[in-house]
Amino acid sequence: MAESPFKADILRGKVALLTGGGSGIGYEISLQLGKHGASIAVMGRRKQVLDSAVAELQSLGIPAIGLQGDVRKKEDANRVVEATVKHFGRLDILVNAAAGNFLVAAEDLSPNGFKTVMDIDVLGTFTMCHEALKYLKKGGQGKDPSSSGGLILNISATLHLTASWYQIHVSAAKAAIDSLTRNLALEWGTDYDIRVNGIAPGYIGDTPGFTKLAPAEIRRTIESMPLFILGEKWDIAMAALYLACDAGKFVNGLTMVVDGGQWLTKPRT
Ligand code: HXC
Repeated sequence: MAESPFKADILRGKVALLTGGGSGIGYEISLQLGKHGASIAVMGRRKQVLDSAVAELQSLGIPAIGLQGDVRKKEDANRVVEATVKHFGRLDILVNAAAGNFLVAAEDLSPNGFKTVMDIDVLGTFTMCHEALKYLKKGGQGKDPSSSGGLILNISATLHLTASWYQIHVSAAKAAIDSLTRNLALEWGTDYDIRVNGIAPGYIGDTPGFTKLAPAEIRRTIESMPLFILGEKWDIAMAALYLACDAGKFVNGLTMVVDGGQWLTKPRT
């Protein structure tokens, strides 16, 4: 992975809470926000994953805590947000990276399977945003009234921009997340100076999600042309840094596609 082109202090003094921030793309964003000055609270369901992520962040000198919880549960979301502010004194950045996923043909997907992914991705994202709002607001409790409002970053995908095999539930969920991003950007950007953006990663090679979701023959094809369509977690974290720091201060309501242009490709005619 390349060195970051951003200065190490661009997020100095900021506090970030990341759901799903203990593994995969979520962890890489935790790491890079931390390396650029932010204090990090990581929320996740699995204690072991949280413990090892937090230990790794702390070993790099990044102030970090792990908070166990399920984004589907309002009481967990509330407890985690409150614990973050209690520990670090404020909340500036919320990254919604928690997601559920599995490959299944639409005809074999039970309504409860569909609902489960919608609950984790969509309801979970909305619930976290809702609970975090009072701290992200300009002048909200625990914030310096002179500073600007906070940032929400929702991790989306590219599969719903067209259509994807065996991921009808995830496509529906990510489409809804993009909608949340735009609507919250409108309402909370106008009322509270909070920017709400998303990132839609393409194929990111060094993640468990890629191994799990891309069938072996697709992986072989993609891996044979990595410069074009295979990204790294680092690519996503750099986009997150851009959106989180002042460089992105005029960007609101955008879901940035970071996929090397893969989603709009088609066979040459
Ligand atoms: C079909 C499945 C299934 C599967 C679960 N279900 N797994 N159906 N195929 N492989 C159904 C169950 O049968 C059940 O419905 C319902 O979903 C709930 O299942 P539970 O196991 O009780 O749910 P839960 O314990 O809450 O777990 C939910 C989970 C989660 C979504 C399966 O454990 C999970 O996905 N964990 C992995 C997270 C992950 O991979 N994250 C990375 C995401 S990467 P019934 O009807 O039987 O009751 C990503 C990238 C997107 O998001 C972009 C890709 C390009």
